[in-house]
Amino acid sequence: MKIGTPLSASATKVMLLGSGELGKEVIIALQRLGVEVIAVDRYANAPGHQVAHRAHVINMADPQALRALIEQEQPTLIVPEIEAIATDVLAQIEASGVAEVIPTARAAQLTMNREGIRRLAAEELGLPTSKFAFAETLDELSRAIDSGVGYPCIVKPVMSSSGKGQSTINTPEDVQTAWDYAMSGGRVKGTRVIVEEKIDFDFEITLLTVRAIGANGEVETHFCQPIGHVQVQGDYVESWQPQPMSPAALQKAQHIAETITGNLGGRGIFGVELFIKGDQVWFSEVSPRPHDTGMVTMISQQQNEFELHARAILGLPVDVTMSRVAGASAVIYGGMNAVGIAFDDVDKALQVPHTDLRLFGKPEAFERRRMGVALAYEENIQSARERAKLAASLVRPVKI
Ligand SMILES: Nc1ncnc2c1ncn2[C@@H]1O[C@H](COP(=O)(O)OP(=O)(O)O)[C@@H](O)[C@H]1O
Ligand SMILES: [Mg+2]
Repeated sequence: MKIGTPLSASATKVMLLGSGELGKEVIIALQRLGVEVIAVDRYANAPGHQVAHRAHVINMADPQALRALIEQEQPTLIVPEIEAIATDVLAQIEASGVAEVIPTARAAQLTMNREGIRRLAAEELGLPTSKFAFAETLDELSRAIDSGVGYPCIVKPVMSSSGKGQSTINTPEDVQTAWDYAMSGGRVKGTRVIVEEKIDFDFEITLLTVRAIGANGEVETHFCQPIGHVQVQGDYVESWQPQPMSPAALQKAQHIAETITGNLGGRGIFGVELFIKGDQVWFSEVSPRPHDTGMVTMISQQQNEFELHARAILGLPVDVTMSRVAGASAVIYGGMNAVGIAFDDVDKALQVPHTDLRLFGKPEAFERRRMGVALAYEENIQSARERAKLAASLVRPVKI
């Protein structure tokens, strides 16, 4: 495995499609290995733009714009960080051998739409999932619930992320509201929804799963310790590692993760989302890239999820061992809608022992936009979570 010199003819070039806080950390990891990095996002000065060799602003869902940029930059690897991409272009690029798509163009295509990945997991691979159905009209939605999915259930636009357009239906009276909300919240307005039985889980985890080349030259699958997390309205607010679980549940979780990532193929890290109740495990969804809840690994693992991704995609070996007994992360929100805000009392936050901080450098804050994350480690999960939450709460977003 060779890595060239950045900004020279021998450069190993990686293009990030999406350069938010997760992409920024992947870029930093790649920079440390001497990779030439091209950061792409839909707006200027995105977090990853600020640490890359070159930055571009395009609409990545526009096939012509995406193809033109790939032809101009000629990257060795293309690394999607978001779902809203013209994935047909990625498939053509991969097929023509112009660049390699991480982990594969098919994985990007299947995971950009909840229908693709859910049908693969449940119908083709036979993995346990919640009961589910798809609907295109309010009437179809009501019928799907009455004829099998049942109450309570959750409705989501098939193309959406971070809980957008997602709501719970408890009674027939809620169906209309949930439908209207889903229609307004999807990435593509007015398309299909998935309706899922609401699983009454004990806890949910992200099982970070890495497909990387081992010493024998074959792809091997590695599992990080399970990450527990709290979601509010479908968006992550807190995570910790490890999440204790029974050996039987862990074994099932790893089997599900190995099956789905093995089918998607390629190299890189995957965030496999699972629901756990006792020894029972349900597959929920998978991201073929680092996961927001995995930011905790920046304090809890020897190689964090971004370093693991960088190494795996380059064909380098990985080590998923933890460096701490327990770690936690807590999200810092904008708390206001304003451009160019500041963060006060960063010193006070970092006075909390065993903590660290990431401020993403997003040019514009929104009330519920994720602007940073506090990290903490401790001898037990409870204390790590408390310290991370305390540090996050001490950072004060202020208008200038
Ligand atoms: N079928 C379900 N049963 C119970 N909780 C669910 C279900 N689907 C989603 N959730 C909750 O909503 C969160 C977000 O849903 P998810 O499908 O992961 O959407 P997103 O793609 O926006 O992350 C999950 O992490 C979980 O807390
Ligand atoms: Mg999710």
